[in-house]
Amino acid sequence: MSSSEQMKAVTIPEFGEAEVLRTDKVAIPEPGPGQVAIDVAYAGANFAEVLYRRGVVDVPLPFVPGIEVAGRIRAVGEGVEDLTVGQRVAALTIVDSGGYAEVAVTSADLVAPLDDLGLGLDVAAALPSNSTTAFLVLDRVARIEPGQSVLVHAAAGGVGSQLGQAARLLGAGRVVGTVGSEAKIETARNFGYDEVILRDRIAEAGEFDIIVDMVGGPARRASLDRLAPMGRLVVMGNASGADDVGVPANELWFTNKTVSGFNLAAFSAAFPEEAGRALRRAVAAAAKGTLRVQVETLPLERAVEAHRRIEAGATTGKLVLQVATL
Ligand SMILES: NC(=O)c1ccc[n+]([C@@H]2O[C@H](COP(=O)([O-])OP(=O)(O)OC[C@H]3O[C@@H](n4cnc5c(N)ncnc54)[C@H](OP(=O)(O)O)[C@@H]3O)[C@@H](O)[C@H]2O)c1
Repeated sequence: MSSSEQMKAVTIPEFGEAEVLRTDKVAIPEPGPGQVAIDVAYAGANFAEVLYRRGVVDVPLPFVPGIEVAGRIRAVGEGVEDLTVGQRVAALTIVDSGGYAEVAVTSADLVAPLDDLGLGLDVAAALPSNSTTAFLVLDRVARIEPGQSVLVHAAAGGVGSQLGQAARLLGAGRVVGTVGSEAKIETARNFGYDEVILRDRIAEAGEFDIIVDMVGGPARRASLDRLAPMGRLVVMGNASGADDVGVPANELWFTNKTVSGFNLAAFSAAFPEEAGRALRRAVAAAAKGTLRVQVETLPLERAVEAHRRIEAGATTGKLVLQVATL
């Protein structure tokens, strides 16, 4: 639903390079039953929005991207009882997108109240996608057990920086990260990895119970080779843009290895209550100081620059877009 009133939003009017993004006026969305509308202070900038912009996901245009926000509840839809207007919240807007805007609508299940947790809205906007994913990938998908070893690719990046810390919180043993360049080793180390190695040295890294791959291409095949017996490889992205890597099913059979997939958008659509619980777990860990995000802020109007930097692999930690001062 939308009203006749207009708001500022960054839209994808056509698929293409970062330059297609446009700051525009669009109708303000209104919450349907079970939904809330949020006045957005900050929207997270993610690789996912780059994929929408490139047309990897076929969406109707013009499209307002944005899979996560933090701000204040503006309105609640029918049947929403536990959230109130004016309340500070972080939220996943990942099912229908729309976060790069002054107002975003999402399911009340996908909201985490911030109340007096002491988190800034900029930090809160950096948590919903990557930190929630980190807990779900390790706990729900890989079914991590105490003491198990974990290897995480792109360890200095948005989701990589959260996976190492989440592994630690979930009782992992050895936690190793890979990065694509020397310059990122120190950044990744500061996120709590025991060791950080260059991705092309993975063959020397030993064996792991769990490997999380969001890079794809040669790293995926090399990861399969590094799994210990009963090891699990979780495939959750393809940041390299490489051609898909086939999974040799007979090899899995002979070596007792598992390959799983995870996609937060599809998971949140199918299991919104569980996604919401994982989000609130991430928010609680950040508020306690046991999960740290490194945040850099750009104004919403500089979304083009944010996308260029993300797709060049030139960011560490998380970029968030400031939409309004709330
Ligand atoms: N499945 C899910 O639900 C889910 C949730 C969150 C994120 N993801 C995926 O996870 C990946 C990382 O997301 P993010 O938000 O953490 O992004 P990010 O911070 O930009 O991290 C991406 C990292 O991938 C590495 N990379 C390798 N080849 C690259 C290339 N050709 N172009 C750009 N980067 C390249 C770079 O790290 P190095 O320099 O270390 O190589 C880069 O920093 C994306 O593929 C995203 O779609 C998936």
